[in-house]
Amino acid sequence: MPALFPRWSDTAFRIGLGAVAVSLLVLVVGPMIYVRTPYITGQFFAFDQPVQFDHRHHVQDDGIDCRFCHDGVDKGKRAGVPPTERCMGCHAQVWRSSVMLEPLRRSFYSGQPISWNRVHQLPDFVYFDHSIHVAKGVGCASCHGRVDEMAVVYQSAPLTMGWCLACHRSPEANLRPRAEITNMEWRQTDPAQGRELAREYDVRPPTNCTGCHR
Ligand code: HEC
Ligand code: HEC
Ligand code: HEC
Ligand code: HEC
Ligand code: HEC
Repeated sequence: MPALFPRWSDTAFRIGLGAVAVSLLVLVVGPMIYVRTPYITGQFFAFDQPVQFDHRHHVQDDGIDCRFCHDGVDKGKRAGVPPTERCMGCHAQVWRSSVMLEPLRRSFYSGQPISWNRVHQLPDFVYFDHSIHVAKGVGCASCHGRVDEMAVVYQSAPLTMGWCLACHRSPEANLRPRAEITNMEWRQTDPAQGRELAREYDVRPPTNCTGCHR
């Protein structure tokens, strides 16, 4: 009786099995890698804004503190974006006829707030609060990068759960004296300083699920 399967069928079967294994792996791991790419996390993406506001000029050249504009940052969850009136405090005099500021003036006289596009956005099921981070000595630059060097703000960190947890598990390297919170150039010179601050500010970030999902 002739063999039911030809001799090469064994090899074909093995190759087939291999192919199935590889495609399963790609199907499972592929999306896992994909959702962590900057394309999905929104990292490094520069949004168009209704006014071409440039942090480099306002922070570096004019030396305005972050908190002058983002004044919710040490009070609660949101840092907030400044109202038109805050801008007009200067721009009623400075660059008052510039075309770049036309949308700002329109907003001021119509009372219609500028609709800035959000750059950072966590999903609704994540609890985040700026004030606790600022109070415990985590500076803006640790999470937002060198905003003072950005012509257009972009998200410099991935903002994934893994990223939050990495710091929550060992925050020491990201701690600074409270007085330096908005200083973009400040660096720890000695790891002992971080450990010292962790003790002084009694820093204990949550790593349990309900800490961030409440
Ligand atoms: C003169 C006011 C002003 C100052 C000073 C200022 N900002 Fe901003 N910031 C804005 C405005 C207006 C926006 C919204 C437009 C944009 O995204 O560029 C913004 C946007 C941002 C965003 C993105 C917000 C989002 O939608 O997710 C971050 C982060 C930020 N600022 C951080 C900082 C930091 C850090 C400093 C200090 C180094 C700072 N800003 C100083 C006015 C200011
Ligand atoms: C521990 C990390 C961390 C630190 C420190 C931090 N931010 Fe943020 N920031 C975030 C995250 C995460 C978001 C997105 C929040 C959301 O979507 O609810 C955000 C959002 C913002 C926004 C958009 C508006 C808002 O409130 O959601 C601004 C403006 C901003 N941050 C400014 C600042 C400034 C200024 C500082 C320093 C004084 C600072 N941040 C410190 C993580 C941080
Ligand atoms: C403390 C004063 C001050 C405040 C507040 C201020 N600006 Fe300015 N802004 C300036 C000065 C000074 C310049 C001139 C440019 C420079 O410094 O090189 C400028 C320049 C600009 C320009 C021209 C482009 C550029 O960056 O050179 C735009 C657009 C602008 N500001 C938008 C805004 C908006 C929007 C706000 C409010 C969120 C704001 N400014 C708040 C002082 C201010
Ligand atoms: C660079 C370090 C760092 C990063 C990144 C960071 N955190 Fe934190 N987080 C801290 C520190 C420090 C504390 C303060 C712990 C304490 O209360 O002693 C804290 C506290 C918290 C708390 C407790 C607040 C409260 O009211 O009890 C929550 C919630 C939280 N973080 C959420 C997040 C989320 C969500 C992210 C990511 C989007 C994040 N954190 C990223 C350092 C960080
Ligand atoms: C320090 C803050 C923090 C803690 C603690 C934390 N998460 Fe998250 N989690 C996040 C953030 C931020 C996101 C959204 C960003 C992302 O998808 O990575 C998230 C997303 C998720 C998601 C959505 C799926 C996904 O990956 O996008 C699940 C499920 C989840 N967390 C479960 C958990 C569980 C279970 C725990 C406890 C073991 C936990 N988280 C602890 C911050 C935290």
